[in-house]
Amino acid sequence: MTQGIDARLEDAQTRIASAASTEDLRAIEREFTGKDGVVASMLAAIPTLPPEERRDAGQSANRLKTAVLEAVATREAELADAALDAEREADGFDSTLPPPRLHRGTLHPVTRVTRELEDLFTSMGYRVLDGPEVELDEYNFEKLNIPADHPARDTQDTFYCDSPGSKATLLLRTHTSPVQVRAMERLEPPFRAIVPGKVFRQETTDASHEHTFHQMEGLVIDKDVSVGHLIGAMKTLLRGIFKKDIEVRLRPGYFPFVEPGFELDARCPFCEDGCSVCKQTTWIELLPCGLVHPNVLEAGGLDPEEWGGFAFGLGLSRLVMLRYGIDDVRHLLGGDMRFLSQF
Ligand code: DAH
Repeated sequence: MTQGIDARLEDAQTRIASAASTEDLRAIEREFTGKDGVVASMLAAIPTLPPEERRDAGQSANRLKTAVLEAVATREAELADAALDAEREADGFDSTLPPPRLHRGTLHPVTRVTRELEDLFTSMGYRVLDGPEVELDEYNFEKLNIPADHPARDTQDTFYCDSPGSKATLLLRTHTSPVQVRAMERLEPPFRAIVPGKVFRQETTDASHEHTFHQMEGLVIDKDVSVGHLIGAMKTLLRGIFKKDIEVRLRPGYFPFVEPGFELDARCPFCEDGCSVCKQTTWIELLPCGLVHPNVLEAGGLDPEEWGGFAFGLGLSRLVMLRYGIDDVRHLLGGDMRFLSQF
């Protein structure tokens, strides 16, 4: 038996050493170590042998397999070296040419602006929080004072997910606001937090609408918080972002989770008299905000008699577009390298 193995191994090694291509090598490898190969049939025959021979037979089969694989690997490396040598000696090879340029990645514009805002806000005592993108209806709507039959839901249609075995409704979050309540539940007041993140809506897409975009929520919980604090914070925020004064206007705005609520608009920097980004209005809705509604404080486990706060929902995608002069929101998540490599 052992002798038969040695002869077989020698034969295999000779053939492997003279194989001319990787395909030939693979064929020999299969012949020996494949599913119906030599080694497999040796192993399959073991139960038919007298018990005292089985151990040796098993070891021999494994020795053959290891040796064949080793020889194949050695020859494969030789063939690769030879191919490289041939290429170097061929006409037209110039060893003085520089190697192909490495393509370095760049940071996505949303990542850049997010990091910049995180720096700005952490310097003002805010912490940076995260929350689930697949969210419970309860947090996305209910606890934000938007019950099941509330018309505010119509403007935030989204993608609903199956949640087998559970009565809870799961959806792709339509805004970063659910993290307001999650933060109140977890953090000791007073606190300040921002929540940059991806949000989703069932939208008809155009230059300023996309089914997936980015927002950044802000939340400050403290005692005796007033609209004056809110306006002061928003002004600081805009100065930090634009490094200069941008004309803004404050309109009353309705969001069920704040009272009073405001829309803070910024003057469109692309045009004088209307363009596709500002939908011909010269104003861009950038910063809805307000004082946290008592029902939301309660949903977060805080006593509205004791605690108050303000919140804002910065349109991060819009802000990125403003910053870099991007006139179509669909570029942001379109994955086109010609766009991305510009940053
Ligand atoms: N979550 C709202 C939306 O996506 C935006 C918003 C409005 C957030 C007012 C806030 C706020 O924190 O106070 O439409």
